[in-house]
Amino acid sequence: MKYAVIGNPIDHSLSPVMHNANFETLNDDSTYEAINIPEAHFHLIKEIIEDKALSGFNVTIPHKERILPYLDEIDDQSKTVGAVNTVKIEGGKWIGYNTDGIGYVTGLKQAYPDLQNAYILILGAGGASKGIVNELNKHVRPKLTVANRTMSRFDNWDLDINKISLSDAEKSLAEFDIIINTTPAGMNQNKDVAISLDQLASHTLVSDIVYIPFKTPILEIAEEKGNPIHNGLDMFVYQGAESFEIWTEQTPDIQVMKEAVLKHL
Ligand code: ATR
Repeated sequence: MKYAVIGNPIDHSLSPVMHNANFETLNDDSTYEAINIPEAHFHLIKEIIEDKALSGFNVTIPHKERILPYLDEIDDQSKTVGAVNTVKIEGGKWIGYNTDGIGYVTGLKQAYPDLQNAYILILGAGGASKGIVNELNKHVRPKLTVANRTMSRFDNWDLDINKISLSDAEKSLAEFDIIINTTPAGMNQNKDVAISLDQLASHTLVSDIVYIPFKTPILEIAEEKGNPIHNGLDMFVYQGAESFEIWTEQTPDIQVMKEAVLKHL
């Protein structure tokens, strides 16, 4: 079978090494490649994928929303988020899934086993946040709190959550057991953090969905304070593992996938 990830740019994607390492370990001769599709060529997506005879593919930035009109069906998580990161091709039908949220939550459960009782603050209200919040809602008893810079971002959110500003988040920080940064603040070498961690309680786990850099500024600050931290590597590995299970209905080798990614970071 043949699989791929589509995006633009895609050269630095670690999905091929991660999936190919898994196929190799399972003695499966399937292959996984990266395909660069510029926005201007996206209307050719059906031809490009059919030419390659793929059985499924991942979709990454900037095409996670653009793929929607080409799909025959999408799952509930994709409907809520409005974006798809996994497509399974079955009998010519394209079925869309979104494994980012479940990938993140699976990783978080290992870092914080008592997840169901945790008071959680999520920073940011973009697509990544929505996918994680929708998935966390299935696992966590206390109501989730989401903080964002721009309150109007919540206008199309009909999830049952507390919606607060970033300054209110700073003031109430000590109430939370887990803080999850879904904003891009601190990516791309800048030292930005979405909020000040001055009021952070000493037990609180600080998590970021990013893993390049491996420690974003918010994680560095939390670590300096002696708090437990958790980066986005698990999310990346488990979203890939979920995609693999959707395509093949087999169990992937998580450890092999993780080691393959770590080796290339
Ligand atoms: P994604 O799909 O990755 O979630 P997005 O939809 O562009 O990306 O959302 C980015 C989120 O990060 C938004 O909540 C954004 O806040 P606004 O709604 O106010 O734009 C938030 N964000 C981006 N840069 C930020 C920064 N420097 N500080 C705080 N929040 C930031």
